[in-house]
Amino acid sequence: MCGITGYIGEKDAYPIIINGLKRLEYRGYDSAGIMIYDGQELNLSKTKGKVADLEQITDNDSKRKAGTIGIGHTRWATHGVPNDVNSHPHTSQSGNLVIVHNGIIENYDTLRKELINRGYTFHSDTDTEVLVNLIEEVKKQENCKLGKAVQIALTEVTGAYAIAVFDKEKPNEIIVARLGSPIAIGVGKNNEEFFIASDASPFIEFTKNVMYLEDEEMAIVKPGRDIRVRQISDDSSVEPNIQKLKLSLDQIEKGGYDHFMIKEIHEQPKAIIDTYRGRMLANQGIIKMAGIDNNLERFLNAERIIVVACGTSWHAGLVGEYLIEEMARIPVEVEYASEFRYRNPIITPKDIVIAISQSGETADTLAAIKLAKSKGAFVFGVCNVVGSSIARETHAGAYTHAGPEIGVASTKAFTTQITVLSLIALKLAKEKGTLSKSEFNTYLQKMQLIPEKVQKLLEIDEKVKEIARIYKDAKNCLYLGRGFNFPVALEGALKLKEISYIHAEGYPAAEMKHGPIALIDEDMPLFVIATNKGHYEKVVSNIQEIKSRSGKIIAIVTEGDVTVKEIADHVIEIPETEEALTPLLTTIPFQLLSYHIAVMLDKNVDQPRNLAKSVTVE
Ligand code: G6P
Repeated sequence: MCGITGYIGEKDAYPIIINGLKRLEYRGYDSAGIMIYDGQELNLSKTKGKVADLEQITDNDSKRKAGTIGIGHTRWATHGVPNDVNSHPHTSQSGNLVIVHNGIIENYDTLRKELINRGYTFHSDTDTEVLVNLIEEVKKQENCKLGKAVQIALTEVTGAYAIAVFDKEKPNEIIVARLGSPIAIGVGKNNEEFFIASDASPFIEFTKNVMYLEDEEMAIVKPGRDIRVRQISDDSSVEPNIQKLKLSLDQIEKGGYDHFMIKEIHEQPKAIIDTYRGRMLANQGIIKMAGIDNNLERFLNAERIIVVACGTSWHAGLVGEYLIEEMARIPVEVEYASEFRYRNPIITPKDIVIAISQSGETADTLAAIKLAKSKGAFVFGVCNVVGSSIARETHAGAYTHAGPEIGVASTKAFTTQITVLSLIALKLAKEKGTLSKSEFNTYLQKMQLIPEKVQKLLEIDEKVKEIARIYKDAKNCLYLGRGFNFPVALEGALKLKEISYIHAEGYPAAEMKHGPIALIDEDMPLFVIATNKGHYEKVVSNIQEIKSRSGKIIAIVTEGDVTVKEIADHVIEIPETEEALTPLLTTIPFQLLSYHIAVMLDKNVDQPRNLAKSVTVE
């Protein structure tokens, strides 16, 4: 979490950094800050709140904005509450060094005490202020340049970081370094300027040449010179690997929508097509997935598949469990990455671990992967962000190709993850012969129709809005589903919680009577998925149980349903498809519902409080 940006070159640094921070706000938005060096002075501006609040401070103050070198930060607080003092950038005791940091320095307390003994005083509660002073102390002790001081200091810290450091005494360079948190360097024409950011979005209009630092690497960027990359552990030099960026500006703009979330909800038909394009050849009855084809023996001999993920990606993993077990008959376990990594799990080389992550940067998922690899498991990644840490750490994988997802509440990432998992399940089923040829082909044909069915479903927006208006003031909601749609109930509840702050729980419909039923009264809306092939009669019984207790029922049913329509207060119809593919449809009304409720409640839809899109801390 936290976003960092920087610029060094001949352009005005201020607008580049401020716009960059706005694009990185998905990573955190508790506070924001910027340092611009005007050739003589370091001008520091920082505040609690968003980048827009920072702009209010700087807008009418040209002195704070003048200069062609600077660094900026948007924060998701870890150490220290979000306030002006704890905001980044942080300066060293001498006032010469300035740093922005994304991550956590775990041994900061010990380092802080040592530095206090050496005469340092601290003004903030942050681990970052400790790091910048540690660098200053090393620089003094070793009488060395900033680059060397950063390298030595980083060998003394434990934790995770992406940092950018500037030294007033050597104002023609910026030092960046990474361990566990991402950092991208945009390279301007003839190395005349460099852009630094947590991802490449802040500089796409300026350059397509990008270098991603690897873990334990640092780089010295200095205009007019090639980037110098060094290994932090031993200061050896590394050849920079500059790549061409494929991202375009319109992919990260709202394009006429009020919020990124609604834009991304509407992008799902295309995103699903992009996900299966080139992989699912329905007319030929083939699924091509290089990550599986190249490792087919391992997949066919796998005794078990373990899915590790967090948040929405974990919900997609649960759908994956139902899909893979149903179609390919391989046992699947789905684990929260944060639990898996610390519970000494039994993993063998015959296991396949599927790690699912939109951002490809989630710290717990990354650590779970490393653990699984150390025990000999084969790790397959399902990521959205190309070149992300998880994509690079896994043995093989499949990108979801959803395009940038900027709204903090995940939508198109979820449906595209389910699309990839459906392809994996179908492919393995074909290879293992657990589905007949005709069953396999039927799935492919039905899958191909999903994008247009999602498109059709998006037209129910007005109806969902009406339901949102009725239930927007509810204090508690229950989401119920069975089988393939149980994880969709979990995801529906999560979406509502995340952006409207209404308490919601997802439950397997039949489990309701073991507790949540006690909550039902006439004020309680229950969102129930009752598709016609998904244990329909059983769910209808559950709906009757709710009705008898005066709960309000909003049911998602298959087109043409008669029975539920008579009992429920509202029904939303989804087009007919195979039951295994219904999560790709049933989830859409829940996304729209959460969106409209949050808008009606005047919540910040794209940047809900306390959350961040990319969670790079434990
Ligand atoms: C955060 C985001 C969620 C996301 C989760 C896992 O909590 O707000 O939307 O599902 O992290 O992220 P990942 O990038 O690994 O899918």
